[in-house]
Amino acid sequence: MGNANLTFDDYLGLNACLLEWVESYDRKDWVRLRNCLAPELQIDYSAFLNKRWNDMPADEFVAMISSPQVLGNALLKTQHLVGASKWEAVGPDEVVGVHQTRSAHQRYTDPTIAEVAVKGHAHSTCTLRYKKLGGEWKFAGLRPDFRWAEGDFDQVFANSPPTGKKTIVVVGATGKQGGSVVRTFLQLPGWHVRALTRRPASDEARRLSNAGAEVVQGNLEDTASLIEAFEGAHAIFLNTDFWETYVPRKEARLAAGESPEPASDEAFRRETTNGRNAIVAAAAVPTLERLVYSALNLDPADPACRTTRSKHSLAKARIVEYIETKQPGLGRKTSFVIPGAYMTNAIISPRFEPGRGQYVLTSPVRDDFPMPVLDPHASMGPFVRALVEDEDAGVKLLAYDDILTSRQVAEKWGRASLRDVVLNVRTSREFHDEMGVPWELLDAMDHCNALGKYAAYADLMEPHQLRNPVAKRPFEVWLEGRDWQEQGKELGQA
Ligand SMILES: NC(=O)c1ccc[n+]([C@@H]2O[C@H](COP(=O)([O-])OP(=O)(O)OC[C@H]3O[C@@H](n4cnc5c(N)ncnc54)[C@H](OP(=O)(O)O)[C@@H]3O)[C@@H](O)[C@H]2O)c1
Repeated sequence: MGNANLTFDDYLGLNACLLEWVESYDRKDWVRLRNCLAPELQIDYSAFLNKRWNDMPADEFVAMISSPQVLGNALLKTQHLVGASKWEAVGPDEVVGVHQTRSAHQRYTDPTIAEVAVKGHAHSTCTLRYKKLGGEWKFAGLRPDFRWAEGDFDQVFANSPPTGKKTIVVVGATGKQGGSVVRTFLQLPGWHVRALTRRPASDEARRLSNAGAEVVQGNLEDTASLIEAFEGAHAIFLNTDFWETYVPRKEARLAAGESPEPASDEAFRRETTNGRNAIVAAAAVPTLERLVYSALNLDPADPACRTTRSKHSLAKARIVEYIETKQPGLGRKTSFVIPGAYMTNAIISPRFEPGRGQYVLTSPVRDDFPMPVLDPHASMGPFVRALVEDEDAGVKLLAYDDILTSRQVAEKWGRASLRDVVLNVRTSREFHDEMGVPWELLDAMDHCNALGKYAAYADLMEPHQLRNPVAKRPFEVWLEGRDWQEQGKELGQA
């Protein structure tokens, strides 16, 4: 059948359909794409994917094209330019169009769309099928004949989640815990890493992007941004932060001559709201297999929850409780990681006291208390990997590299730094009254003293009980990596 069968109205209708197809791609307008499709399509990607679909439903085609692996990646801009065309009627209300095409792709480093990460353009001849349905021409099939590529076309889709990989979304990705999770999962061939940050243009976010993570903008204050960021996730690592709210509020109150304690309530409200926002968004992700929430040592069932002034511990206990009691469906997919005190934590960091002329480890914790300690940079990622890949859901893992009493900390710290360290155990009341340390920090320590252990959770898993135990980083090894000269300056000693 020849072109004689095409009327000028058909010609205009076919051109309109062609424009709808390319414009919907370039504008990422998936409703517009759906509207220009026939109910079923013949898709022949033999030229570059070695795949063909004879009767692909229109919705499936839209899902494929709009997925983050293909054109759904918000960092990817395209222009599908059509050159000369030849039209041929091949049946009643059925036309084949052969079109010269150049598909230009440009992927940016982050959602500010300021810096280009990679460019690559495909030069092809595309054969399209069109069907007239209800008097309107619809796109009914495609066979691109790929000729050659300009630029780094093979790299254009590199930061998109490739088919066959699972996606982990990391909340707190630019931080200590989340950064470790990102680095660990980037090393795993089966995972694509999506890093959430409020500031995609920050140095840390750019480092994550350069290392191969998909960086997306999101804020725990904004549930819509979380729903978007969690789309298609198989795993989510969730860390909520207390101190970013607490510290400036506390400083402002102190500067105004007021008690710092109400700052705890403000930070508590914000952290628990942020946690709930993330949980509601995570509960709506059908692909999700595992949520790992970074909790703390206060068990929601502990009577201390009613009285504690350490709201950073309480906020995380309330978030655990919310997941377990209010979101049982999500709860069945969730595990908790309970990090020990960071190795940089003040309670295990001796300070130089000029008055005494020596280093002193002043601690409100009993000198024989076995404190689990963690290097979050090195070890959080491997522990989270174990909870995602090796263990069933429902685990509460106490994550630590070492367990140390204050006496052992003082002794090991002294040996590594070649300095004498004196241990000075004081009561929390003395810390508060004489040194002005807020109860926010002290109640949690008193709770450890009263319990005689770090965490009261009944069903706590220890690192050695993991199916594949994680390589631990003993405190001595961590100390070896310190720059003692720098540390001396930082702590006020020449
Ligand atoms: N110090 C210790 O010994 C210790 C021990 C165990 C647990 N913890 C807990 O660890 C938590 C902090 O974790 P970390 O040390 O990994 O944090 P961090 O290094 O201070 O980083 C904070 C992270 O939280 C993200 N974040 C903060 N507010 C956000 C928001 N509204 N929306 C999205 N992201 C937000 C930040 O992302 P962007 O700025 O990029 O948006 C950043 O990635 C605290 O809650 C603390 O209680 C501390």
